[in-house]
Amino acid sequence: MANNIYNFHGGSTGHWEVIKMQTVTGEPLQPVTHLRIHPASSDTTEEHVWTLTGLISNLRYTEKQEKESLVGIQEDLGRAHATCAALIPLRKSEAWWLLAQDERRNIFEKQSEHTQTGLKYLPAIARKLYHCRDIGGPFDFLTWFEYAPAHAHAFEELVARLRSTEEWSYVDREVDIRLSRVFL
Ligand code: HEM
Repeated sequence: MANNIYNFHGGSTGHWEVIKMQTVTGEPLQPVTHLRIHPASSDTTEEHVWTLTGLISNLRYTEKQEKESLVGIQEDLGRAHATCAALIPLRKSEAWWLLAQDERRNIFEKQSEHTQTGLKYLPAIARKLYHCRDIGGPFDFLTWFEYAPAHAHAFEELVARLRSTEEWSYVDREVDIRLSRVFL
């Protein structure tokens, strides 16, 4: 099995404890107390309430200069001080997927300034984007973020800014799960 595929298991065990689960748009996910993340290729058979699967893929909208800015400033996941996390699964509407690539890029960056806005919050927030539309899950994307408690307020501000954009008018399902790292 490819090693870019990850399972997010919601249940009663895991390295991340759920602090808050909020349905922003559309159908909720069943409440859970913990989250486990496993590469699908080495997953275990522990019990869980739900599983979301996503894969790390190539960039779609990022232009060369933006990529260079991101690479120059972003930090990796797994930093010791980043004990807060957010898993935000999202789905975009059919209207979004019917648009051409250039129309989507236009909404994503020219109108909504997704990357420009996000860059202001780096390197405090580390992130990873998982795609799931093409593998048939209930969401199109699983977005994952890690940050220190001192940056929790900045993360709230970022999420609020993105949710007020034109891009987000195409989001028809979004669940916001906030987590805290469990020290075993
Ligand atoms: C932390 C700062 C952030 C930065 C620097 C950032 C940057 C980016 C970039 C560059 C892409 C485009 C990837 C590509 O070219 O395919 C992207 C995609 C995406 N981001 Fe962010 N982002 C940030 C925060 C967020 C947040 C807080 C959310 C959710 C609440 C989010 C949700 C998404 C989604 C769903 C996509 C995929 C959009 C699509 O393909 O239609 N991002 N982000």
